[in-house]
Amino acid sequence: MQQPRKLYVKSFGCQMNVYDSQRMADTLAREGFTETQDPADADLVILNTCHIREKAAEKVYSELGRLRKAKQEAGSDTMIAVAGCVAQAEGAEIMRRAPVVDLVVGPQSYHRLPELLRAAGTGARVVDTEFPVEDKFDHLAAPSRAATRARGPAAFLTVQEGCDKFCTFCVVPYTRGAEVSRPAAKILAEAERLVGQGVRELILIGQNVNAYHGDGPDGRPWSLARLMEALARIEGLARLRYTTSHPRDMGADLIAAHRDLPQLMPYLHLPVQSGSDKVLELMNRGHSRGTYLDLVRDLRAVRPDLALSSDFIVGFPGETDADFEATLDLVREVGFAGAYAFKYSPRPGTPAAGHGSQAPEDVKSARLAALQKLLEASKVAFDTSLKGRTLEILLEKSGRHEGQMIGRSPYLQSVVVTNPPAAIGDLLAVTITEVGPNSLAGRVPALASSRPLAAMEA
Ligand code: 5AD
Ligand code: SF4
Repeated sequence: MQQPRKLYVKSFGCQMNVYDSQRMADTLAREGFTETQDPADADLVILNTCHIREKAAEKVYSELGRLRKAKQEAGSDTMIAVAGCVAQAEGAEIMRRAPVVDLVVGPQSYHRLPELLRAAGTGARVVDTEFPVEDKFDHLAAPSRAATRARGPAAFLTVQEGCDKFCTFCVVPYTRGAEVSRPAAKILAEAERLVGQGVRELILIGQNVNAYHGDGPDGRPWSLARLMEALARIEGLARLRYTTSHPRDMGADLIAAHRDLPQLMPYLHLPVQSGSDKVLELMNRGHSRGTYLDLVRDLRAVRPDLALSSDFIVGFPGETDADFEATLDLVREVGFAGAYAFKYSPRPGTPAAGHGSQAPEDVKSARLAALQKLLEASKVAFDTSLKGRTLEILLEKSGRHEGQMIGRSPYLQSVVVTNPPAAIGDLLAVTITEVGPNSLAGRVPALASSRPLAAMEA
């Protein structure tokens, strides 16, 4: 029996980091680690970092500064590990700038954590940012039933990693490497296990998730649509989502899946980045404004209740006022239900970082404010349109007040349910009564078409 030890993991960045953090915790559970929410209480701290924008990457150094101070004050010997995309991109730099770090581990080496920790435990400072030949997923532990239950009825499941698209602003092809799809049988087995543990909703994740082309059990490559068709047959799985998609990979079968699979939620995150053809070309996006709008039209034709969210970058090198206006215009045309907008951040080693015409900071700030205002209005309009509508809500946790519960709408909104006759993991029909800035509120209608479909098993 191993000595009980405590692990604190902090995730930055995208959902894949959240998933990876869970799998690291599952793997370290086998080594005797239990999770704590308090870094001061931990024997091992893992920072799972993001490199996508400069601000995200710098966060790790301020976090390490705080940890160093706390460690000195407490005189503790907590081990500190840096994982994720900053680890991959700047391993040596982290070791140089932050002597408090014992271990740097890149995203493709998480399965080696136990042995790396043993090496770091001997006092050596260890860096592993290899892209090993073995499949890390074969070696990472699956979650225990207790861990899955603690994480709630919606679970992430990585189906592919990496990217071959090389958008000129993006570090992902360098930090996460080339596009790799997991074999369908392994994904199906992981999904079945999660559903057996009470999961009702699966969020399939990948940096380029709709480029999925994993080996199928029939020996042929399966598309994401084919994979979801098989997943939808798992008894007890009520909801499916996938993120993040590239417009170039929205194949006809994937569009049809939005029509044919009732489990597939009518909410799609489809980053467009800009509404200007010139900027899209400079970004090497491989799609135009027109092809994006055509896609939106085709998706809405097969699934009229589909809502969309997106990502935008403002102040990309070469973006003029007219280009930016074209982005605002696209937002008005599509009517997004939600979106993220970012100022362009030059990333070392990416083609756009070396572009001569970088936009001044004040221009970026002004454009970001204008775009965010428009996107917020678009989101409020969408949320408001749901008032009085009855939506199926997946109950995820107890609410702040006695008797309330919090769940998710098909559109990923948080919904406070004031009178739930049900439990975590149940799906029930809820009529939306209030629309707030961060959540909706609703009631189960008096006449129950609202019987829970199934409870999350004990
Ligand atoms: N600068 C600003 N935003 C970026 N993104 C990716 N790279 C950069 C960058 N260099 C944004 C894109 C992407 C989202 C995850 O982050 O909008 O879709
Ligand atoms: Fe950040 Fe991209 Fe890495 Fe996710 S994959 S953590 S968004 S850099």
